[in-house]
Amino acid sequence: MDVFETMKVRQSIRKFRKDPVPREHILRMAEAASWAPTAGNSQNFRFIAVQERETIDRMRGIVDEIVSRITGTGIAGEGKATYQNLFAFAPAVICVVGSPYESATDKLLREKDPERYKTRRFQVNPGLQGISAGITQFILAACAMGYGTCWMTGPLIAKQELESALFVRNPEELLAIIAVGKPDAAPPKPPRRPASEITTFR
Ligand SMILES: Cc1cc2nc3c(=O)[nH]c(=O)nc-3n(C[C@H](O)[C@H](O)[C@H](O)COP(=O)(O)O)c2cc1C
Repeated sequence: MDVFETMKVRQSIRKFRKDPVPREHILRMAEAASWAPTAGNSQNFRFIAVQERETIDRMRGIVDEIVSRITGTGIAGEGKATYQNLFAFAPAVICVVGSPYESATDKLLREKDPERYKTRRFQVNPGLQGISAGITQFILAACAMGYGTCWMTGPLIAKQELESALFVRNPEELLAIIAVGKPDAAPPKPPRRPASEITTFR
C-alpha cells in the first residue's frame, strides 16, 4: 500500500479477531514509529507491548474500577467494551511511554521569560508533539501490514494506577494506549473536512 492510500484507509478499529500479533510485527511497527520526527531528535518515547491475557485483564479491571468510582455506576459487564476499556478486547495492547523533553528554546525561556515558558510547555509542548508523530507512524505501519488499531487516551482516566501496574515511573509517563489486532469489523469511515476548508494560502 502506498503511503497516501494507507493514510486514507486507516480507521480506528474497535473490534478485533483473537489472532495473536507476532513480536516481529510489533517490532516492525515500532521501527516505523522510531523514524518519526521528534523535537531535537529526542526520540522521547518507548512502547510496552502487553500480550499476556492476565496483564491485559488486570489493566481492564483497573480502568473499569476507576470509571465506576468516578461515574458512580456499576462495572461494565464482562463482554462489554466501552470507550475506555475496549483495548482489552485486542490481542496486543501497546502502551506508549513518553519522557519529558526540554529543548534549548524551553531552557532559554525557563530562565529568562517564565510566562512565555509556561505557554510553550503546556500548549506548544514539542515533546508531546514528537510522541504523537511516533504514534501516527506506528498506526499507519500497522494498517499497511493488515492490522487494525485504536489510538486511545480514554483508559488514561486511570493514568496513575496503570502507571503503577506497568512500573512506569517519574519522569516517564504513560501517554496513550494503542489497541492492535486483525480487524473483525470496520465501521463506516468517519468523514473528514476537505483539504480546501482546512487550508488557507497567504
Ligand atoms: C489522541 C487520541 C485519543 C483517542 N482516544 C480514544 C479512546 O480513548 N477511545 C476510542 O475508542 N477512540 C479514541 N480515539 C480515536 C478517535 O475517536 C478517532 O481517531 C476519530 O473518531 C476519527 O476516526 P478514525 O480514526 O476512524 O478516522 C482517539 C484518537 C486520538 C488521536
